[in-house]
Amino acid sequence: MAGAIVIVSDRCFNKSMEDKAGSVIDKFFQENDLLSKCRIIVPDEKNIIMETLKRLCDTDKMDLIVTSGGTGFSPRDVTPEATKMIIEKEAPGLVLAMLKGSLEVTPTAMLSRPVCGIRGSTLIINTPGSPKAVVECLNFIKPSLKHALQLLK
Ligand code: MTE
Repeated sequence: MAGAIVIVSDRCFNKSMEDKAGSVIDKFFQENDLLSKCRIIVPDEKNIIMETLKRLCDTDKMDLIVTSGGTGFSPRDVTPEATKMIIEKEAPGLVLAMLKGSLEVTPTAMLSRPVCGIRGSTLIINTPGSPKAVVECLNFIKPSLKHALQLLK
């Protein structure tokens, strides 16, 4: 199974901040028998996020895409909106698992608006931007992730 990492961050894109979430997702992929195919950094721009996700699904045929960042309340946070535009089916159970687990760790979890869904045979998962939040969220969906990816084949 092949996975792609999409870091959504203006600051990482313009190199004023180092991306730390990408390595965390990469490690999660390795631990879960997923081949980490690419790591892409994009700015918080809806059209760019949409085009990147579409290409990774339709052309590159990724099994899984994990995005990090842009799920919050600030004006430039548009990752969920971009994801919603390009998925064909929503996966609310994954969102519920991430938010339920996260709220048991920190009340600020309610400030994340992740979307999870399917386009073709690709599963897309939005996670927050902080490396700590990413690893927490991925661990909450881990129990059903392999089964989810097999169902899409
Ligand atoms: N979820 C978990 N599991 N752990 C966290 O530390 N941080 C929250 C939230 N979700 C957090 C979390 C915070 S502080 C914010 S602002 C939102 O995710 C949105 O983050 P983003 O805008 O970087 O996507």
